[in-house]
Amino acid sequence: MSTLELRGVHAGYGKAQVLHDVSIHVGDGSITTLLGANGAGKTTTLRAISGLVRSTGEILVDGRPIPSAPDAVARLGVAHVPQGRGTIGQLSVEDNLKAGALLRRDRAQIRADLRRLRELFPVLGERAQSQAAGLSGGEQQMLAIARALMGRPSILLLDEPSLGLAPLVTKELFVLLPRLRDEWGLTVLVVEQNADLALSVGDHAVVLESGRVVLTGTAREVSGHDEVRRAYLGN
Ligand SMILES: Nc1ncnc2c1ncn2[C@@H]1O[C@H](COP(=O)(O)OP(=O)(O)O)[C@@H](O)[C@H]1O
Ligand SMILES: [Mg+2]
Repeated sequence: MSTLELRGVHAGYGKAQVLHDVSIHVGDGSITTLLGANGAGKTTTLRAISGLVRSTGEILVDGRPIPSAPDAVARLGVAHVPQGRGTIGQLSVEDNLKAGALLRRDRAQIRADLRRLRELFPVLGERAQSQAAGLSGGEQQMLAIARALMGRPSILLLDEPSLGLAPLVTKELFVLLPRLRDEWGLTVLVVEQNADLALSVGDHAVVLESGRVVLTGTAREVSGHDEVRRAYLGN
């Protein structure tokens, strides 16, 4: 577990500034939901944390500034499951999982983690030798998360894990998040369009609008907020 903190972060693409003075605190061992309309800057926020987009301001893990190179951020224990998954389609399920552990040397622990992940996501054990590209959308999302966990991160960044999934599959995935947080000792920042579902499993929530934080609070506070209900919850 770790804390993740953004303080006055600005980021963008070339001259187009997308994030303006974004400050977010993701507490140790919590699930924080990042909400906002399309184009609000949610993906850019995760990319700034991972070092995939240049930013100014402070991004701190356990109070220390993160390095600027993406592989150094990963080594620090930050795993990023990008929007649209992040599995290697031509590789088998098993090899995708092993690829997630490339930076590790603790072989016995790697084997133990593989076993735990097959318990958590039985389909990944059943389809171990199948090409990742042949899995269903939900299975690919599970594989992407499991692969990230094989790196033994302390912070997990999930970008719209429900994209393209059926509602029931999405729900199955989200109810696993508190379990992942607890059993894998994770601090989670999850971007989600399905606000109701994300708020039901999240501890805290942050709402972005045009690259600015417009609301933060506990998931309960945010879901009870009239404007949020109108904008994101459809009632
Ligand atoms: N690679 C890019 N180059 C230029 N502009 C981009 C790029 N990616 C995203 N943007 C712009 O940044 C803004 C925020 O995008 P993004 O962070 O993807 O939003 P969200 O994930 O909330 O939908 C949008 O206006 C989008 O058009
Ligand atoms: Mg996005």
